[in-house]
Amino acid sequence: MTGENLVGTVVELEVGPVAHGGHCVARYEGQVVFVRHALPGELVHARITEQNAKYLRADAVQILTPSPQRIEPPCPYAGPGLCGGCDFQHANVVEQRRLKATVVSDTLRRIGGIERTVVIESPGDDGLGWRTRQRYAVVDGRPGMYAHRSHDLIQIDKCLIAHPDSPDVLGRRWPGVASVQSVVSSEGKTAVLTDSDPGGRVVEVVRGRRFRVEAGGFWQVHPAAPETLVDAVLSGLEPVPGETALDLYSGVGLFAAFLAEAGCPVLAIEGDKDAVRNARRNLHDLPGVTLETGDVDRVLNTAAGQGLEHVDLVVLDPPRTGAGKDVVRRIAALTPRRVAYVACDPAALARDLKIFGRLGYGIASLRAFDLFGMTHHIECVAILEPVDGEVAGAGALR
Ligand SMILES: C[S@@+](CC[C@H](N)C(=O)[O-])C[C@H]1O[C@@H](n2cnc3c(N)ncnc32)[C@H](O)[C@@H]1O
Repeated sequence: MTGENLVGTVVELEVGPVAHGGHCVARYEGQVVFVRHALPGELVHARITEQNAKYLRADAVQILTPSPQRIEPPCPYAGPGLCGGCDFQHANVVEQRRLKATVVSDTLRRIGGIERTVVIESPGDDGLGWRTRQRYAVVDGRPGMYAHRSHDLIQIDKCLIAHPDSPDVLGRRWPGVASVQSVVSSEGKTAVLTDSDPGGRVVEVVRGRRFRVEAGGFWQVHPAAPETLVDAVLSGLEPVPGETALDLYSGVGLFAAFLAEAGCPVLAIEGDKDAVRNARRNLHDLPGVTLETGDVDRVLNTAAGQGLEHVDLVVLDPPRTGAGKDVVRRIAALTPRRVAYVACDPAALARDLKIFGRLGYGIASLRAFDLFGMTHHIECVAILEPVDGEVAGAGALR
């Protein structure tokens, strides 16, 4: 890398493949450049926005040879230097899903050493109007979105990925707060939260079952997501009545509820006290569910100390950082028949699948869902099984 400061310079780039994070990869004088607002195969003029010892970042500001998949972004706030909320408004929705499939399979190969062809399943939308929870930044009372990797506020009067029934929080001032969030539930009830007002609770309905959740607590943001993921988990695990199950990172009890309805005694573990309190209410009719509040690793350690040696099924839905080696070891030590791993970050998934692989668990199936249209985010469900019926157990991992 030369010592020359390139930030602000406009350079010509031949855009290469997509990479995780909402950008494509190009090279400028031998240096890697992560280019936003571009598509694979395009020739662009791009402005360098960041420079460090390892790579450059850039925004495509003029498209010299457009990809056939390029479209005019539906949102007027999408583009270089504008709203940082979306990554792929300039690609048609079929191309967005192809890009995401490439990212998942490349990430599995690069990080996990796993060869897998991935097809992204669509929730049947056009990528717009899905976000039931949307947080906006507020600066000097004005709501908006930050520009990408910046604290520059871009004022917007409408967000096209927000659900159309979301409460309008953009049409007014919010003095004295740093953020405002709009929420619309599956029943059409709305809530507004600020950093000083938690906004109460909402009820979400999945497969006819009601889930109470804090307005600001974790709930999937695409209206089709809870049902889609429950279907993927249940069809992957194929629970048999009487089989024992763990729901790790269980939130307000989404997966525990339907595993229990399928006749499985479930131990659900969740760190957030409010979520567990809501889960207790949501699952009160299901006596086979035991709820534990605390860190998954620590609760599993305690349970092992109290004699828990085996479970038949595990669903885990960890945060973006993944489960990590210790939790994966504890799961494998319980020798489950099947594991359903629900993942919102393909890199963390790949890291954890590699560990599962070393402990004797292989991928029986992997599905990926486009539940975050216009953005680079992807939700995956991997079903794992002991390879050849053999489980190495935790002792195999050093
Ligand atoms: C992706 S959400 C999944 C929630 C739930 N499965 C659902 O679908 O609604 C991850 C959950 O893990 C919880 N969590 C994060 N880290 C944790 C940890 N170390 N131990 C226990 N829970 C944790 C968060 O509070 C959050 O509820």
